Order: sequence, then C-alpha cells, then structure tokens
Amino acid sequence: MSVSDFANVLDGSRVVVCCGSGGVGKTTTAAALAIAAARRGRRVVLITIDPAKRLADALGVDSLSNDPAPVRLDGGAQLWAMMLDARGTFDAVIRTQARNEAQAERILNNPFYANIASRLSGSQEYMAAEKLFDLSNDDRFDLVVVDTPPTREALDFLEAPQKLMNFLDHRVYRWLMTPARGGLKVLNIAAQPILRTIGRVIGADVLADAIDFFQAFEGIEPGFVRRAGAVQSLLRSDQCRFVVVSSARRDTVDEAVYFTNRLSERDVTVAGLVLNRLQPSFGEGSAHSALSAARAAHKAGDETLAALQENLAHVRRVAEAEQAVIAPLVDRVRGAAVARIHQRATDVHDLDTIDALGREIIG
Ligand SMILES: Nc1ncnc2c1ncn2[C@@H]1O[C@H](COP(=O)(O)OP(=O)(O)O)[C@@H](O)[C@H]1O
Ligand SMILES: [Mg+2]
Repeated sequence: MSVSDFANVLDGSRVVVCCGSGGVGKTTTAAALAIAAARRGRRVVLITIDPAKRLADALGVDSLSNDPAPVRLDGGAQLWAMMLDARGTFDAVIRTQARNEAQAERILNNPFYANIASRLSGSQEYMAAEKLFDLSNDDRFDLVVVDTPPTREALDFLEAPQKLMNFLDHRVYRWLMTPARGGLKVLNIAAQPILRTIGRVIGADVLADAIDFFQAFEGIEPGFVRRAGAVQSLLRSDQCRFVVVSSARRDTVDEAVYFTNRLSERDVTVAGLVLNRLQPSFGEGSAHSALSAARAAHKAGDETLAALQENLAHVRRVAEAEQAVIAPLVDRVRGAAVARIHQRATDVHDLDTIDALGREIIG
C-alpha cells in the first residue's frame, strides 16, 4: 500500500478510529479525515472528544450533545459533527432498551444509576462504543470518524462491550437479580446478612438504591447483552479501520507502537499511519551535501551563501533525525497507508487549513 491508499481506508469502511498519544494531532487528523471523506462524496459524521475551543467553534460543536450538527462545507460535501456526551448516550440506551417509559424512568431516576453512569470504570468507553455503533447504523451517514481521548486507556472502548457482557453475566449480579424474579421485596433482600454487612460499609441508602436499580433492570439485560455483542462485532469487523497518529518524538512513537500492539492483540491491523508535525526537509539533498556546499561557498568567499547552506544543513539534520525516530513505527505498521504531514507555522484550527491537511493525507 502507499500514501494514496488513505482513499481506500475512507471509502471502504463504516467506522474510522483515530488513536495516538495527546498533542500529536489526533483531533485535527480525525477532522481532516472526516472532511476528506466528505469531499469524496461520503456522508460523514465526526465524533470529536476534546477539540480546542477554536476548532470546536469552527465545527459548530461548542457544547456536548448527542445529536450531530451539520458542518458548513462548500461544494456540497456532507459532514456532521458532535462532541460525545457519555451520560446522555447512556440515558438514550436505557430508554431504547427499557420495556416501557415507567421502567426507563425508574432506572434513570435512581441515584445509583447516576453514580454508575458517570463513574463506573469503563462506562465512558462503553458509551463511546455505543455511540459509534448507533451512528454507524444511522441512515443519514455512511461513515463515522472517531477521535479518542488523549490517554493510554483510549482503546478501552474496544473491551467495554465485553466487560458489560461479563458484568451482566456475573454471579453476584445474577444472585441479586434472582430474588427479584421470585417476587421478593427490596426490604427482604436487604435483610440478608451479607447485604446488611455491605450496607454498613457503603450505607444502607446506597445499597437500597443499588438493589432497586438491579431490580429495575430486570428484563433489560438480554437486550443489553445482544447490543454489546453487536457493538463488539462491528469493532472487530473490517468495516472498522484504525488510524494511528504520531509525531516524530520518541515518546509519541513509543505510544503509537503500544497502540499498534494492543490492536494486534485483538487481531486488528492498523489501516493507516499519520505522521504529523514533521520537520519539512527542503529539497532532495542530505544534511551532509548542504554542509559540503556551505564549505565550498565559504572557500569561494560567499559568506551569505555559506550561512544559508549551513542553515539548510541544520534543518535537514533535524529531519533526518526524525526519520530515524519514526522508522521502527513505519516498519511496525507495514502494509498500512502512511501519510507524512509537516508542522505548520501556526496551530491548525480553521476548516480551510484542516481541509488542506485532509487533501495532503489522501495524497
Ligand atoms: N501539522 C500541524 N502543524 C501545526 N500545528 C498542528 C498540526 N497538527 C496539529 N497541530 C496543533 O497541535 C495542537 C494539538 O492538536 P490536536 O489535534 O488537538 O492533538 P490531540 O488531539 O492529539 O491532542 C492543536 O493546537 C493543533 O492545532
Ligand atoms: Mg484530541
């Protein structure tokens, strides 16, 4: 594959996930890929996580929402964008899975629910997976482009559906659910010695809320498990492609290799690598040749040319050092589309520059 194959990545998938460590340009790249795909005629929705204020403004996603808003692009390109609202997504899942309005309300108004919806480890990741599943099945869109948070745990959403399935299948959960099915009242369950002990530790109110929550959940779990299974299959299918973003710094390259390894543990290969913020290399020659030219100019008495060639030698040395840093990563993702993007003189926050970046990635 070559650089131009980013076109294949965008044309041949339903979901594109951008990952990499913070500051490398993940959010920028996700936006650039989304615009590029929209330019190619696809109806694209971008889920962005932590856009800089000016980028959020440019995309029109200045607040959390669950409904993608159209982004104004010329030439008829169709792009929507949203900033993930994990809690709102969780609520929406409860509403669609509940048997009726009353059951949904009972869960949503339960204080224990409020707690797990915002704090349960993995629930944010699960909601990211849910949302991309949801949007990938939405008739309005052909392609979902997903930005990820700037943490090592960003890929946890891959495991989140499985974790939820395991949880709902867990013995403690089943045990808590069984008396509810048998028609026992909350009070009776709370009277069990072990629950009395738990209640003393976490507080009787919290425990009562928790039990009420699990009882309210009754009958929903099969739907949840089915859905989590479907989310899981999508993430593992070849309709979902992963793009790793890295700069030429050793630490971000190490992170990119870490993400690549985590993906291959799950039999997922990286479809694209964007090397961002690279030093421009100015012409074809090497640092060495510029240095020779500087010496020759110096001998000939042209100090101005000598100084310029020395400068050129310096920036080329930086570019050459960068090539050495990224080489193992390029090697690690062999077969993936690779794009090299130079560091711009200023930050990239406006749609025109991101549009140009997208064209550069496509090649
Ligand atoms: N090629 C580039 N040239 C110059 N600035 C860039 C480039 N790519 C990204 N940036 C800037 O770097 C900062 C971090 O980019 P961002 O996309 O938010 O990174 P991440 O999402 O990986 O943390 C932003 O201010 C962005 O405008
Ligand atoms: Mg970001």
